[in-house]
Amino acid sequence: VTHWSLLGRRVLAVGQGLAPFARGPLFGAVFELAEIDRLLDLPAGSADIVLIDTDAAQPDAVTAAITALAALPTAPPVLLLGAQIPGGLVRALLRLKHSDMLETPYGPEQLQAAVYGLLDAAGAEATASGVRTSRCWSVMGAVGGAGATTLSIEIAHALAARSRSDRSVCLVDLNLADGAAPAYLGAPPSMGLAEFGPTAERMDAALLAAFATPITKGLDLLACPRDPLAFDRISREAVLRILEIACEAYSVVIVDLPRHRRPWTLEVLRGSDEVVVVSELTVPALLSARALSDEIEPELLAGLKPRIVINRVANRMFGPAPSLAEAERALQRKADGGIASDWEAAAASVNLGGAISQHRPKSKIVRDVGALVDRLLIQAERDPKFAPSRAA
Ligand SMILES: Nc1ncnc2c1ncn2[C@@H]1O[C@H](COP(=O)(O)OP(=O)(O)OP(=O)(O)O)[C@@H](O)[C@H]1O
Ligand SMILES: [Mg+2]
Repeated sequence: VTHWSLLGRRVLAVGQGLAPFARGPLFGAVFELAEIDRLLDLPAGSADIVLIDTDAAQPDAVTAAITALAALPTAPPVLLLGAQIPGGLVRALLRLKHSDMLETPYGPEQLQAAVYGLLDAAGAEATASGVRTSRCWSVMGAVGGAGATTLSIEIAHALAARSRSDRSVCLVDLNLADGAAPAYLGAPPSMGLAEFGPTAERMDAALLAAFATPITKGLDLLACPRDPLAFDRISREAVLRILEIACEAYSVVIVDLPRHRRPWTLEVLRGSDEVVVVSELTVPALLSARALSDEIEPELLAGLKPRIVINRVANRMFGPAPSLAEAERALQRKADGGIASDWEAAAASVNLGGAISQHRPKSKIVRDVGALVDRLLIQAERDPKFAPSRAA
């Protein structure tokens, strides 16, 4: 489970002194101030994290509240804040799986770090116990027209075909202004995020369902209607919120990322389990792929390297032909995959509206994308570093 932001996280805070956090370090969270007694019969699952100002309540009442929380089947993580936290409270805190303390004075960054740390720990546990196992793969073109959208669509299709559940894969087109995915798929874009303005940040799963365009069994598309101003009209928070709920609702989310950096690009990359950089077999494209890969690698989850995939490889070029050696010299590394060129299949599918795997299932593009997806899936299973259960 990846925490893109605090948006939509339900924070239950005890103590008036914590109220300013709602506009400060915890901005974006659904913030509720409560009396300590509220914790005595808190319905399970009604808060993602509980903050208690120990200076604002009697130690006995706080101990009773924590004891009650510890008895819940899945207790929310608890953060105690105060000038001098009594030893008895610390002992009570030990009954909880996830808890932390901050003694005053603490800064906004410390508070944020403690809150994120607890949310991540609780999220990792939920995932490990099989509650959620979503993965997010991002696809980015090294140069314009390299085939990022085409490969996003084919990867999403390949994953949906390998899954048995209904709502398994979601393709998110983050080329907000003029994404091509709807046109390629012959499907109407229904994510009218721009109209929602600031309320888009409070999106929930029900609204997400209204935004999704069903493509095939197991594959939905989230894409915005054409709007030249969309990048300015849709906030960073709204984009991250959409991804967050998509990751909750689907087992795999494939993101078609714009090539140019947006205010949310790095967060999307940080939340990705795989990043595919699409290049073509030309020197400028390969140099761009290497530069892009070098730029983003430090931003990714520890140990994760962007996968460089060379698209539109002409017949037999990806064998022992010198062009591949040259390609890898330009890249200064091995490519992670090659996708055959098949203009007929690519053009036919976009003209008919739909994936290549649907209209030209025998195309080498389909074979190569399938092999790439299988390799990535096997790696994810073998290497715990790439396993979906890893929390970000
Ligand atoms: N393997 C392939 N063989 C033949 N044609 C391909 C292949 N992959 C993509 N194409 C074609 O190349 C063109 C560009 O592809 P696509 O739109 O996917 O690139 P992109 O990287 O998303 O472009 P943009 O920079 O505009 O977002 C399209 O016409 C597509 O059909
Ligand atoms: Mg594109």
